[in-house]
Amino acid sequence: MKKLSLLRLVASLLGSALIATTTQAKDFRLGLLTPPQHIWSQAASAFAADFEQHSQGRHKVALFPAAQLGNEAQMLQQLQTGALDMAFLTNAELSNRAPELGALYAPYLVQSVEQAGQLLTSPEVQQLLDQLPARAGVVGLAFGTGGLRQILSRTPVHSASDLKGRKLRVTPIEALRDFYSHLGAAPTPIPLSGVFDALANGQVDAVDMDLELIWGLKFYEKADTILLSKHMMWPVVGVVSARVWRELSPEDRQALQTLMRKHLAQTFTAYIAKEREWEQAARGSGKRIVEVGPEFFAAAIEAWEAKWRQKAPALPALRQLAKSLQ
Ligand code: BEZ
Repeated sequence: MKKLSLLRLVASLLGSALIATTTQAKDFRLGLLTPPQHIWSQAASAFAADFEQHSQGRHKVALFPAAQLGNEAQMLQQLQTGALDMAFLTNAELSNRAPELGALYAPYLVQSVEQAGQLLTSPEVQQLLDQLPARAGVVGLAFGTGGLRQILSRTPVHSASDLKGRKLRVTPIEALRDFYSHLGAAPTPIPLSGVFDALANGQVDAVDMDLELIWGLKFYEKADTILLSKHMMWPVVGVVSARVWRELSPEDRQALQTLMRKHLAQTFTAYIAKEREWEQAARGSGKRIVEVGPEFFAAAIEAWEAKWRQKAPALPALRQLAKSLQ
């Protein structure tokens, strides 16, 4: 009898301890690279407000946009130690840890942001996030998107040979370095925060970028040729530190997943509308607009594909899937 009450007492103490952790209020920190006016930052802000409201004020989410916590490699380290709770990270940084994610940079995998949205929300692509806890120390909850990639150049570009030997800024990832090396350019890895200066001071001749930043951050003021190439999609991933995730209650995990999905899904809607606007603005700007498609990059695409089919075995299936969505 005595033994039974002791067991009950222990069970009840354990129960209260469990409730204490599951209901514990927490001030979360969410980092991202983009400036406050960027669509990803707006999605993060809407997510934070929604999550706070959903938790009835128990949780808060403080945002750190514009690389306040460092570049993405640094943010990823902070996520691994639990010093940072969450982030909206480019798939780019994650592909440095999990090369399978590099398959999402397959040139012309998608033709539009609409198609990117369909692909990135498919169960097949969602599954790619499963490897993140082991490889990157984060739990990947949902994909969103940035605009399709274009090229902004300080010098005229009529054919791919005009880019030969040219210093072309890329986000520091292997998939992009490979693409531009195969094209014969000199890919120059520079994180987003350094791009404007690199373009302004002539450190690079051209940059791989999307229209939002070409317009939003006024990169176009430093270069006269916009190559409307739409050669790759640009996924963003909502992640939570795996260490932090382990401490969360099932309810909080569920809420984070649902709300990150909801707000990152808004990025698809936003870019579908805004990309048209930015393209119109670009066309009306007096800048030299050169419209190119896969044929411009032909040999580079073939070489890229051969290499990345080895590095990312999911690539052929993704191509198949993307084709079925057209
Ligand atoms: C970039 O490295 O080009 C980039 C990073 C984050 C958002 C958009 C672009």
